[in-house]
Amino acid sequence: MHTNAGVQVYGLPTLHQFVSGDDLVAIFLEALGPENSLQDGDIIVITSKVVAKCEGRVVTGVADRENAIKGEAKRIVATKIHARGVTTIVETHNGLILAAAGIDASNTEPGTIVLLPVDPDRSAREIRERFEQVTGLRLGVVITDTLGRAWRLGVTDHAIGAAGITVLDDLTGKPDAFNRTLEMTVVAVADEIAAASELVRPKDSLTPFAFIRGLEHLLTLDHGPGARAIVRPTEEDLFSLGTAESIALGAQRAVTDRRTVRNFQEQQVPELIIDQAIEAAITAPAPHHSTPWRFLVLNSGDNEQSDIRIALLDAMAQTWQRDLEAEGKPHEEVVKRIARGNILRTAPCVVLAFMDLAAGAHTYPEVGGRNSNERDMFLVAGGAAVENFLISISSQGYGSAWISSTLFCPETVREHLGLPETFTPLGAIAIGLPATSPSQRQSRAVKDFLIN
Ligand SMILES: Cc1cc2nc3c(=O)[nH]c(=O)nc-3n(C[C@H](O)[C@H](O)[C@H](O)COP(=O)(O)O)c2cc1C
Repeated sequence: MHTNAGVQVYGLPTLHQFVSGDDLVAIFLEALGPENSLQDGDIIVITSKVVAKCEGRVVTGVADRENAIKGEAKRIVATKIHARGVTTIVETHNGLILAAAGIDASNTEPGTIVLLPVDPDRSAREIRERFEQVTGLRLGVVITDTLGRAWRLGVTDHAIGAAGITVLDDLTGKPDAFNRTLEMTVVAVADEIAAASELVRPKDSLTPFAFIRGLEHLLTLDHGPGARAIVRPTEEDLFSLGTAESIALGAQRAVTDRRTVRNFQEQQVPELIIDQAIEAAITAPAPHHSTPWRFLVLNSGDNEQSDIRIALLDAMAQTWQRDLEAEGKPHEEVVKRIARGNILRTAPCVVLAFMDLAAGAHTYPEVGGRNSNERDMFLVAGGAAVENFLISISSQGYGSAWISSTLFCPETVREHLGLPETFTPLGAIAIGLPATSPSQRQSRAVKDFLIN
């Protein structure tokens, strides 16, 4: 049986107090001592803390920590308030995503904080070149930082800078132990090196250095891709925002992202999408603690529902034609207007919304207009429910158009569907997957909508 040759990981403690301008390579070799020597193919591991100190990335005045985090952050990814204060996960200008921009006060002189190196890959390349000059050996360099991980407790070291090594070992296309082709296995070997080095660099020891022997196959001829290549591009990131931030953004955009969609793909709308939209609709505010909304779902994929839909639309078209002709509209105009209702014939799903006055509306003596006011009040609540419905449809990735036609022929609709007089149609909602993206909404100024 073939056995792996094994990997040796050595930690190198040093009592050196690192300051700006220090020669890291000289300090490393001093810590190595005359009794040990590096070999061709070794991988040098150095904590970012000492690299940053040598690069003068030290800030005095702990009060500056929040400002320092802001200065290092390109964007805030997540914020969590807890008993010990606030944890902020940020994306740094360098593209790393980590807590407090990687700034911390551990293993630093009291009253000071240490930032991350400006460009850890550049630092790794410079260190590698210097090692090569001094030792004449082909070595790899990894700069590490200790990071927490989403989903898992505990911290491990990760590579934030690298030079001279493969950082991602792409096994895609290679066979597994059962000779099946690996589909998308990319091993983050630089992170594994960083984590392995941490095993011999306990946090309570002054051990900023390690070297690893036995991984020479990971060395590259040139500087290699650097640890920046490990960072997942934001557009491919399924988790580019914290949970609370995603919820807040979703809630904020749910309303404004809804647009009227009039062209649909052919696919049917799953029942669950409509159920969730109705669930949202029936949380709308309504007078007298009533729940006066009713819905009729007509899917094109269901023969019975499809027949009901077409027969109803035919009956509505007849009423509409009669009304338009009575208004004296020319024949072409009548035909054109009626054709506008075609969206309700072709949409994969149509939901008719109703408001039932019998479900809680009060009646008053027929003096003044109180009964009509009461009806208006229920209609307003009907509108609120339909808007909730549309927002839910849109937030589930589907498109909808609220079409008024049933509002203009309530008797025809009631008669055709056998509904009582108390049912007021609130329009028909055409639903489906959008075939095109809606045009950009014209911006509206709040002040134009305020009554002075
Ligand atoms: C009560 C009501 C009835 C509507 N009726 C129709 C309609 O019959 N046909 C239509 O194409 N759009 C109809 N709409 C959709 C509006 O045209 C649409 O909301 C408006 O153009 C604004 O576009 P937006 O929804 O993308 O913001 C209706 C909207 C409401 C609120």
